[in-house]
Amino acid sequence: MRLRYAVLCVLSPLVLSLATGCSKQEAPKQEAPPAAPAAAAPAAGGAAEGKALFEQKCSVCHPLDRATARKEMKEKWASIVKDMQGKKADWISDPDAAKIVDFLAAEHGKK
Ligand code: HEC
Repeated sequence: MRLRYAVLCVLSPLVLSLATGCSKQEAPKQEAPPAAPAAAAPAAGGAAEGKALFEQKCSVCHPLDRATARKEMKEKWASIVKDMQGKKADWISDPDAAKIVDFLAAEHGKK
């Protein structure tokens, strides 16, 4: 009985330290690659971010040309994007929506 307990006491911290040891090793690996694109993003400017968000968020239900085929005032884009936010819960956050509206108003705005 005692021996079994002793073995458990020795083994469980070992297993624990192995588990945490693994997760500690993986963390830096995951952080390292995104550092480069994140650093490049501000240099490219908010417009590039808005375009990327638009292509990612607005292409899941219909082709992007549903939006790019038309030109609208910024207010109209804002109301369309707000509409689209309502079609899929939590898919397009408010800050993302604002960037998408900025991109659409800049690239597909009414002059
Ligand atoms: C969850 C699905 C979904 C997502 C995500 C989505 N849309 Fe839509 N969109 C629709 C549907 C469905 C329609 C057609 C029905 C309607 O007009 O309400 C539509 C219609 C539109 C129209 C035509 C509306 C009109 O008044 O003629 C535009 C423009 C548009 N989407 C742009 C966008 C943009 C920009 C985004 C990203 C911010 C987006 N959509 C994301 C589902 C989506």
